Amino acid sequence: MRKPIIAANWKMYKTFDEAVEFVEAIKDKIPPVEKVDAVVCAPALYLPTLVDIAKETDLAIGAQNMHYEEEGAFTGEISPKQLEAIQVDYVIIGHSERREYFNETDEAVNKKVKAALSHGIVPIVCCGETLEEREAGQTEEKVANQVKKALAGLTEEEVQHIVIAYEPIWAIGTGKTATSDDANAVCGHIRKVVEELYGKAAAENIRIQYGGSVKPENIEDLLSKEQIDGALVGGASLQVESYLKLLEAG
Ligand code: G3P
Repeated sequence: MRKPIIAANWKMYKTFDEAVEFVEAIKDKIPPVEKVDAVVCAPALYLPTLVDIAKETDLAIGAQNMHYEEEGAFTGEISPKQLEAIQVDYVIIGHSERREYFNETDEAVNKKVKAALSHGIVPIVCCGETLEEREAGQTEEKVANQVKKALAGLTEEEVQHIVIAYEPIWAIGTGKTATSDDANAVCGHIRKVVEELYGKAAAENIRIQYGGSVKPENIEDLLSKEQIDGALVGGASLQVESYLKLLEAG
């Protein structure tokens, strides 16, 4: 039985005060960690404060990106070592917005996944196809390729600690959700790819989320599917009530 993981991706939303207010409001209302992993991935400059507020609660705090180098002359970047030092538990890697607007490559994603794991941070690795690719029947090939490249060189043990987020690009922020059957099929395909690379146990243990216009109205249907182990949520994670409803479905 895989534990669901419901992660908020706030992207570049919320001021510092709004972020603090949100975490203060939800921190004691989180379902027990034995039932669901609740994560808020916030803008980097709020992380130390939010980690502090969420300490000793069932809420985990994540980053939305990081560099793969330990330290060095990389102006504007944040390293896995720095995230570990402030006790960040998760980091989103390879979100389609980073791939599209910041030229993040599969190779960089792979290095970031390894760097996160070596610092005890759980990477939430994103993959997903464009509308064009979906219409051309290339969805499975695209996500398989992204997943293989992201996981290259990991051990069977390491793979079981990561989370994969399947986020069809055409469903992000558009209000168009993949049907739960379609999302389930692609998540199942990703699991098959993991099985081919790492065997049955790794494939059964790895958690695969769906992301793309997830909201309280559709999360139960999505989570009822065998291959979907949680959600990575943008817009609907920005309001306290709606994020709590998403967690309750977990
Ligand atoms: O990472 C979450 C995401 O890209 C989905 O965003 O707003 O469609 O839930 P949204």
